[in-house]
Amino acid sequence: MLFIVSINKYEEMKKIGIFYGSSTGMTAEVAQEIAKLMGVAEADVHDVAKSSPSDVAPYDVLLLGSSTWGAGDLQDDWYDFLDGLEALDLKGKDVALFGCGDESMSDTFCGAIGEIYNRLQATGAKFIGFFNADGYSFDESPAFIDGVYVGLLLDQVNHEDMTEGRLKEWTAQIKKEIGE
Ligand SMILES: Cc1cc2nc3c(=O)[nH]c(=O)nc-3n(C[C@H](O)[C@H](O)[C@H](O)COP(=O)(O)O)c2cc1C
Repeated sequence: MLFIVSINKYEEMKKIGIFYGSSTGMTAEVAQEIAKLMGVAEADVHDVAKSSPSDVAPYDVLLLGSSTWGAGDLQDDWYDFLDGLEALDLKGKDVALFGCGDESMSDTFCGAIGEIYNRLQATGAKFIGFFNADGYSFDESPAFIDGVYVGLLLDQVNHEDMTEGRLKEWTAQIKKEIGE
């Protein structure tokens, strides 16, 4: 009986894929750390520069990471990837967003997270992983939408010291939200 129960539990576990874009390696590093904390295998951690949007198909949970460049813009490799992703049917998938920014870019902090969130609304994905951004000193963030931060906002430039704790809290929250 115990054996059958544990097989069912295994079958219920959701398959998690991490997709990130990173220009100077900061979001890449964070993606690896998230993988460790979530128990995601290396083969399921994807650089969007080397992936196609259809690679998300096997996953129940997508953890999507982008740093922010320009003035609140996507990381370069995300442009084509997001064009493809937003055209897909992501119904039944949970999506959580994370990314690195710089709070001194005070009106555009982690803008890429807001853009990905907005552009994936029509896919039918369920968004999880909303997280507070206490402790930073930016004025505004395009990732603050309808009264919540729509993902995990990190600042590896000014607040690297805060990242580990925030990653631990956020990954614990994601596990709860996906029922692990
Ligand atoms: C030219 C330039 C523009 C940037 N623009 C923004 C911005 O608008 N908003 C923001 O939050 N961070 C901005 N950043 C900060 C980067 O997002 C930050 O350095 C990030 O950690 C880079 O991560 P990556 O190495 O994964 O690409 C900018 C950085 C540079 C050098």
